[in-house]
Amino acid sequence: METKVYSTYYELSENAAKEIIDIVKKKPSAVLCLASGETPKLTCQKLVEKAKLENIDFSKIVFIGLDEWVGIPPDNEGSCHFFFQTQLFKHLNFSEQRIHLFNGMADDLTKECGKMDTVIFDHGGIDLMLVGIGMNGHVGFNEPGASFLNYSHVMDLDSVTTSVGQKYFKETMDLKRGITLGLKHLVESKKVLMLANGERKARIIKAALQGRMGNLVPASIVQTIPHATVMLDKEAASLLENNSGCL
Ligand code: PGA
Repeated sequence: METKVYSTYYELSENAAKEIIDIVKKKPSAVLCLASGETPKLTCQKLVEKAKLENIDFSKIVFIGLDEWVGIPPDNEGSCHFFFQTQLFKHLNFSEQRIHLFNGMADDLTKECGKMDTVIFDHGGIDLMLVGIGMNGHVGFNEPGASFLNYSHVMDLDSVTTSVGQKYFKETMDLKRGITLGLKHLVESKKVLMLANGERKARIIKAALQGRMGNLVPASIVQTIPHATVMLDKEAASLLENNSGCL
């Protein structure tokens, strides 16, 4: 794992977008898995800007959504579907049949997980996985206690996630479960970017990167992934020891 600290969230986002563009240029049929949420929002915006400027073709990209709230319809503005639709799909030429997002409304969620795993395996694995980190150290909906050995699965949400998650919705929502790629997907992904910005993430970043590795802080799995890059702004990195300063 390497850690890169940027002086601003803006710079962090520009560099994360550049990493994605580089992969798409090198492999136009790459399998990309992105997270939704506040953290990657500016990365998505920068990605759209850069892709338009450079006329990058996304039509062969296989897009995988990291996770989804169970029971939340895709047209709800707090859903991960809605995020990707508004931040990426309506701006870039992704092919609809190559977009794979969990259906959080599916009757058979186990089947939904199996479908996602099959898509990933059939395409030879994920080339780039870009994730955030929750205030409780979750990655996707791999909540504290999640096995490091899971592929896609459904998980009961931790109380931190159900309360922090309200920020995405216009009305108070009854959030109980999430459907998510597993931590084994993260380990097996050919490249991993883990992003965090802001002072509010400093404590969990310290725990994930320099605390004891274990599933009580799911993001700590990143310590075991040599090809992972943790991209932080200086506020999120502020509690790290031996933080050698900004890029
Ligand atoms: P955020 O969420 O980007 O909205 O802070 C991160 C997460 O919960 O993984």
